[in-house]
Amino acid sequence: MKSVELTINGKAVSRKVEPRQLLVDFLREDMRLTGTHVGCDTSQCGACVVHVDGKPVKSCTALVVQLDGADVKTIESLAADGEELHPMQEAFRQNHGLQCGFCTPGMVMSALGLLDQNPDPSETEIREWLEGNICRCTGYHNIVKSIQAAATTMAATNK
Ligand code: FES
Ligand code: FES
Repeated sequence: MKSVELTINGKAVSRKVEPRQLLVDFLREDMRLTGTHVGCDTSQCGACVVHVDGKPVKSCTALVVQLDGADVKTIESLAADGEELHPMQEAFRQNHGLQCGFCTPGMVMSALGLLDQNPDPSETEIREWLEGNICRCTGYHNIVKSIQAAATTMAATNK
């Protein structure tokens, strides 16, 4: 076992972990942050995307021991239970950007990573960015619309 110290959704966490433990399993099983999903075992689906030090990362591709000192944010960091949704979540809700919702946490965290570096992306840029995120339900059109709507709201509200 190895000791790691991380910040997860703003809280300091100190744990001993197996060197082989993946970040996604640590988040879901040890931290009980089950909003981060596992949709494949080939690093393709993007359902597991979280932010590590401000950048979107597939948490099924990272070992916790590699992340000592890192700042990790999951979908749960965006809005507390019963509180107002983050503008990106609200845009997905309003624009029917989800059906079953399985891919949605990863989509939302990926989309926020895009807007961090490109606050006004074109449709093509959004579609290219989402190449690492698979949705089996929506056909992507409403996901793209959701991200465009969120970009407009976030630019207007400075969120
Ligand atoms: S579970 Fe990580 S990419 Fe599918
Ligand atoms: S909404 Fe069902 S997989 Fe995307």
